[in-house]
Amino acid sequence: MILHKLEVHDFRNYSSLSLSLSPHVTIFVGQNAQGKTNILESVLMLALAKSHRAGKDSEMIRWGAESAFVAGELERQQRRSSLDLRIMKHGKKVRINGLEKRRISDFIGHLNVVLFAPEDLMLVKGGPQARRRFLDIELGQMSPQYLHNLAQYQKVLQQRNNILKNSDRPDKKMIDTLAVWDEQLIEYGVKLIRKRLEFVSKLQEFSASIHQRITSGGEELTLQYKSSLFEDVPSVDELPSRFQQQLADKQREDFRRGSTSAGPHRDDVEVRIDGKNVNTFGSQGQQRTAALSMKLAEIDLIRQEVGEYPVLLLDDVLSELDEMRQLHLLESMGEKVQTLITTTMTYGLEELMREKAVVYRVQQGILLRA
Ligand SMILES: Nc1ncnc2c1ncn2[C@@H]1O[C@H](COP(=O)(O)OP(=O)(O)OP(=O)(O)O)[C@@H](O)[C@H]1O
Ligand SMILES: [Mg+2]
Repeated sequence: MILHKLEVHDFRNYSSLSLSLSPHVTIFVGQNAQGKTNILESVLMLALAKSHRAGKDSEMIRWGAESAFVAGELERQQRRSSLDLRIMKHGKKVRINGLEKRRISDFIGHLNVVLFAPEDLMLVKGGPQARRRFLDIELGQMSPQYLHNLAQYQKVLQQRNNILKNSDRPDKKMIDTLAVWDEQLIEYGVKLIRKRLEFVSKLQEFSASIHQRITSGGEELTLQYKSSLFEDVPSVDELPSRFQQQLADKQREDFRRGSTSAGPHRDDVEVRIDGKNVNTFGSQGQQRTAALSMKLAEIDLIRQEVGEYPVLLLDDVLSELDEMRQLHLLESMGEKVQTLITTTMTYGLEELMREKAVVYRVQQGILLRA
């Protein structure tokens, strides 16, 4: 898919901006704090209706302005459509072809993106939360149903935790109420786990082969979904009863802690190189390469699932990678994936800039086509 045009008003440090993007590579060059990442963030908003870095949506409204606006023109399966999003101080509105969508989940996933930002190097190095977030974001943009189940699960989890928190010594009535929430927790939780198991096993295949290429056949990368509910991987039919069993076994502990100790909200993905956990034993470089392999694998996976390549957003990551990995990154996207790159340095990119890419210079919220 191709994002042909991008327009933003009162978004971050841009008062007004309208630009065309190359179907291949567009490079945004500028010093620090000029607004390079802000552009990628606005594209991300069109895809996910959520920022990778803003705690609150309203942070993205230009200081002093009432609301922020982002619009894009998308080509997908030879069809053009327009997407737009308005962020207000409270809430946001999304439209496709000028028609407002009441549910955000009907908007998400029309544009698919894969973002690789410096903080993604934490995907392997960081705690389980970073990997759960990765699963949720990626599955979410491919499946509105997943997003819906995730939201429901979180709602039920919160209700369940409220009961656990408010009772040191649970009576029968409370335990009965808990059972009602447990039933729903299991219903939505199992749906999440099934999707995640499926996703990780597909991602594993793509990322293992990419990793092998990056390391010149040297290293074997494996990914495995690690659930807090089971050690082995039970059959799908068994999932509800296993979840039920864990909730029962941990009920006492959960009341004591005031929170739910097992479920998909506590799960993880184990990343191994040659059989060793990279999170614990990997070198800095291995952790980076593994993260890169997982991200690049997403490009293939999205292609497989939705039938088109996503738009690749590379935020300032070239400088983080050594030459070999940089080369692999640029090669692997080649002609087929529309790519937006931000960078402070043009070193090493001269040829690309001269021959193929559209280049913009970014200075204090103003873009100049180079
Ligand atoms: N809501 C806002 N309104 C106006 N300006 C904002 C807003 N939020 C952030 N900014 C400004 O945007 C700038 C940061 O932009 P951005 O993160 O895109 O920089 P960058 O070019 O990616 O820099 P770096 O190379 O350091 O990553 C900061 O100078 C900040 O002051
Ligand atoms: Mg930046």
